[in-house]
Amino acid sequence: MDDARPILNETAVRWPAEGVTRVPYAVFTDPEIYALEHKRLFRGPVWNYLALEAEVPNPGDFKATLVGEIPVIVTRTADGEVNALVNRCAHRGSLVCHDKKGNKKIFTCAYHNWSFDQTGALRGVAFRAGVKGQGGMPKDFDMAAHGLERLRVQTFAGLVFGTFSDEVDDIEEYLGPEMCAYVTRVLNRPVKVIGRYSHLLRNNWKLMMENVRDTYHAGILHLFYNTFGLNRLSMEGGIIMDPRGWHHVSFSKRAADDVSNTDYENAKLPNMRSHLTLADPSTAEYYPEFEDGITTQIQSIFPTFLLQQIQNCIGVRQLVPRGLDQCELIWTLLGYEDDDENINAIRHKQSNMVGPAGFVSLEDGAVLDFVQRALREEPDGSSVVELGGSDIELKTTHRATEGAVRGYWRAYREVMGL
Ligand code: FES
Ligand SMILES: [Fe+2]
Repeated sequence: MDDARPILNETAVRWPAEGVTRVPYAVFTDPEIYALEHKRLFRGPVWNYLALEAEVPNPGDFKATLVGEIPVIVTRTADGEVNALVNRCAHRGSLVCHDKKGNKKIFTCAYHNWSFDQTGALRGVAFRAGVKGQGGMPKDFDMAAHGLERLRVQTFAGLVFGTFSDEVDDIEEYLGPEMCAYVTRVLNRPVKVIGRYSHLLRNNWKLMMENVRDTYHAGILHLFYNTFGLNRLSMEGGIIMDPRGWHHVSFSKRAADDVSNTDYENAKLPNMRSHLTLADPSTAEYYPEFEDGITTQIQSIFPTFLLQQIQNCIGVRQLVPRGLDQCELIWTLLGYEDDDENINAIRHKQSNMVGPAGFVSLEDGAVLDFVQRALREEPDGSSVVELGGSDIELKTTHRATEGAVRGYWRAYREVMGL
């Protein structure tokens, strides 16, 4: 690790004395914090989501991905092993792989033709012996010492995770038994990719991670949800977190809606009296496929991974920082390998709810832009995260709480040392 650059070792940002019920705006706007995140968080004791095993099913398959802004290649070797390699040439630092996906045994750098295999081992150095007996690499040049940097890789339920840390627990311990159970509730059999979205957002990446844990906004901001009864806080549901409070899952059961509930009526949400109807009601109809009655499950794994079941719209989301005040949300929509044409068509139709122009999710991009624009000039300010108190309750049977947001900031503070 490069500890020589003082700017990466220090930050003037101090967390407010109130703890995780306050979030200093500076964590969304301070360039030193952003640099520290790559050192302490993305290269720190966390498991980063990289890819689906279904995206690299065959020997030689590869997929480009990112950990923070660090470019990474996920590969599958001839013996079926999944590897993750930093996509940075060991010679002079060029990107080695420019394709998003494909199948190849050898990755060759365009700059001086050094080549690497699927495990990252250096296989070839152009003009290693020089030209006409002159020049070339030193005789003691050690090929084995100049491979691509490798991440530690583990898979769970078809998800590929990678870490730069030797210390972090194995992935199942990192997730904890509750999170594992909710991951495998959705990823309960082999999946296939049925579509992708990329959403470029004009906000710091952590505002989106707060947003996905913020059950408070879902039944308020997202008019499609509550107008057409897909997800309301008045439904039976809850939030569960792992024992450390780092990861979360929220769920709700549409059949258990209690919209006449006076608390919800008293909230006077403007759209609740809407007389809007859908020209095609099947856009929002749930096709029963989960026996437990859960119609929406949103699960986030610290730091940047999200698994969703919104009715029959199943998918994963990977959040990638794109600089201090931009990020990219990459959605990969899934079906099961044994889906028939009927459920396949239902999943495609429901995919209109998500993505950059989704009936449900377009408001997130808009509102997070509002936040970033407004807090930019107030580095000493902080946001308030007190709904549901100041604790990180590991299990609630309601969703009128920002406890999962507080859990995110607990994890962030631990990893960042703030
Ligand atoms: S930078 Fe890759 S071969 Fe020189
Ligand atoms: Fe949202």
